[in-house]
Amino acid sequence: MPGVRSPAPTDYSQEPSRHPCLKINSKEPFNAEPPRSALISSYVTPVEFFYKRNHGPIPIVDDIERYRVSIFGLVENPKELSMADIRKLPKYDVTATLQCAGNRRTAMSKVRTVKGVGWDVSAIGNAVWGGARLADVLELVGIPMLAITTPSGGKHVEFTSVDMCKEENGGPYKASIPLKQATSPEADVLLAYEMNGEPLNRDHGFPLRVVVPGIIGARSVKWLDSIVITAEECQGFFMQRDYKMFPPSVNWENISWPTRRPQMDFPVQSAICSLEDVNLVNDGKVTVAGYAVSGGGRGIERVDISVDGGKTWVEASRYQKPDAPYTADDMCCDKWAWVLFKAEVDIPQDAEIVAKAVDIAANVQPEDVAVIWNLRGILNTSWHRVKVWVGQAKL
Ligand code: MTE
Repeated sequence: MPGVRSPAPTDYSQEPSRHPCLKINSKEPFNAEPPRSALISSYVTPVEFFYKRNHGPIPIVDDIERYRVSIFGLVENPKELSMADIRKLPKYDVTATLQCAGNRRTAMSKVRTVKGVGWDVSAIGNAVWGGARLADVLELVGIPMLAITTPSGGKHVEFTSVDMCKEENGGPYKASIPLKQATSPEADVLLAYEMNGEPLNRDHGFPLRVVVPGIIGARSVKWLDSIVITAEECQGFFMQRDYKMFPPSVNWENISWPTRRPQMDFPVQSAICSLEDVNLVNDGKVTVAGYAVSGGGRGIERVDISVDGGKTWVEASRYQKPDAPYTADDMCCDKWAWVLFKAEVDIPQDAEIVAKAVDIAANVQPEDVAVIWNLRGILNTSWHRVKVWVGQAKL
């Protein structure tokens, strides 16, 4: 029972317009990130500065009246839902950070070559996603809240898009999450039709996308076409032959994809966004500001800053809401969202400035990128280091 499928363009002649400040890492498919400084100008990332991560041309869903999402598979009461049906469900606004697993890949590739689009530190953004809760949508097809299986043996929820990706031999992008997560109201999984209070734009999944907070962005499928309840996790390329984390010993000769699970949760991460990799400053007073975030709804306990390459540390201040210090307490923070951090430091001379974050489970970013090197260059969460030279520019 496929949905009413809108034609996905087969080439890149009908791409939407984008903000000129974006740094384009690959033009076709379009993959781009904002300058570092744009990320810390506000807690909620403006849509035009939000990174764009695509695997094919951007679909055009122009007949919203005919648009349907089909829900079928191992479910007793399959259905096709229109946007009007989805909008009738209670609307939730969830502030959640989306991060591509390839964020900071370029830095990892300096250790040893990795395969994939290069990214600096801005393949990440924080948005207010508005839409229906997936758990409520699944209730419409007879799957109760907190179900871990359906009577016919469904244990996973697979999302299929309408885009065409070369990795899927021209087929659509797909991913799945466990039914247990999909039916848990606390997991806040959304079928989102709004981003920062506006209808989703084409780049970010118009008219409807999945947002799975706390896990790598690859599972938040855009341009949703169908939801299939399956016995096994999705067998698509992006679940089985990509976005898996391998040890440093694995190379393209000895790789065995089935030995690893699809990556879901993302680990604790932080990056300095007020400085580039190498900076020249007039005097030694430097603002060190950036973002920190962890997966699974684990808040950020601490962000440490060093000006001597990690020998000594000071703690940065952290915030989400303007004027309210962040407490990592479930009751007063956006649990799926990043914190922004800031520290003013004095550097007497040239320095290596480092940031590292600690989450509420005391997970700490690894010191050295080499120990987490992997051939696909995913999850570079090593300490973020930048160089600062004190002096005058030579004319
Ligand atoms: N969904 C579809 N249909 N096609 C895609 O290429 N890319 C995924 C995910 N969902 C993708 C997709 C990846 S890898 C990421 S990181 C996020 O979308 C990026 O979402 P964004 O472009 O809205 O920032």
